[in-house]
Amino acid sequence: MNTNITVKYNGVPSYDITLAQDYTFLYRELNKLNTKERKICIVTDSNLSKLYLNELIETVKDYAKVVETFTFPAGEDSKNLDTVYKLYERLIQSGFDRKDLLIALGGGVVGDLTGYGAATYLRGINFIQMPTSLLAMVDSSIGGKTGVDFLAYKNMVGAFHQPKSVYMNLKTLLTLNDAQFFSGFGEIIKHGLIKDREYYYWLKENRQLLIKRDINTLFDMIYKSCLIKREVVEKDPKELGDRALLNFGHTIGHAVEKLMEFKLLHGECVAVGMVAAGYLSWKRNHITEEDFSDLVNTLKEYHLPTTVSGIKAVDILKTALHDKKMDAGQIKFILLDEIGKAYMDTTVTETEMLDAINYILN
Ligand code: GLY
Repeated sequence: MNTNITVKYNGVPSYDITLAQDYTFLYRELNKLNTKERKICIVTDSNLSKLYLNELIETVKDYAKVVETFTFPAGEDSKNLDTVYKLYERLIQSGFDRKDLLIALGGGVVGDLTGYGAATYLRGINFIQMPTSLLAMVDSSIGGKTGVDFLAYKNMVGAFHQPKSVYMNLKTLLTLNDAQFFSGFGEIIKHGLIKDREYYYWLKENRQLLIKRDINTLFDMIYKSCLIKREVVEKDPKELGDRALLNFGHTIGHAVEKLMEFKLLHGECVAVGMVAAGYLSWKRNHITEEDFSDLVNTLKEYHLPTTVSGIKAVDILKTALHDKKMDAGQIKFILLDEIGKAYMDTTVTETEMLDAINYILN
């Protein structure tokens, strides 16, 4: 099975998302980019290089003049300018010019870092996203956000740089460990909560098949989530407005992620953050208590955490507020108006935030 979704940028078709179950159709994307006489550098991490790199090199080698690889140690610790520096070095040593191509083979860290390398090397070269994690497939590979962490700040340095193609081989989901797999559901359940009530209930109904990683049901789910993400980024590619709705669960989620020193996965922190934001939505009478309990249960059913321990409420608040200082001191909190519809609220008080934070603390 193979399906394409075209993403527009400023109203014009910009790139295709391909959902496939192997690398068979990648040649089409390479042909569109006329790569035959170009160099390609596949960027990946130390885990994925053992799993998929050889197969990908075999697939790509007939469609490029040269295929290079750049592998860095797996994990958030590598998502920094030092790794980007090494990537630039490699590209310069190998004589990459502006018409050559990078391929990001990996999860969110690989995709964000490679995208940032592509955005800045020679003021911008082409790149393809080949997400291998569930979270990267439904979220980070789509929409052109690229970047790296700087000091203790997540995604502090970055650029918007659209990929030329997003190609996902869904078979890569079968080798993810359970924690990584379920982490993706943090963003997927979020898609239902903020944009599509029916989808949220579909996720609940199909839980058994999805948890078992039934490939056809996963295919339908990823397709739907990609459509939701596409709709949001097409309307607001640079996050000047509604793209911020994707940050549902992220204000407190990011603070938890940072204070837990990245011991929890991103989707797990988003799940905890969604409980806090859902709690506020309930307290403000937008959703019912039953809706809220159902949200918490749904996250639990997908093996996601709904509480945290070992960190202090006041530190979560301080960290979340510090993040928000970037928005000229205004707290822009994403709440639910109802299940399936989110909105941005600028009136959430620190007392309300603290109340919600206390709820998620064990
Ligand atoms: N990951 C959120 C966004 O793409 O805007």
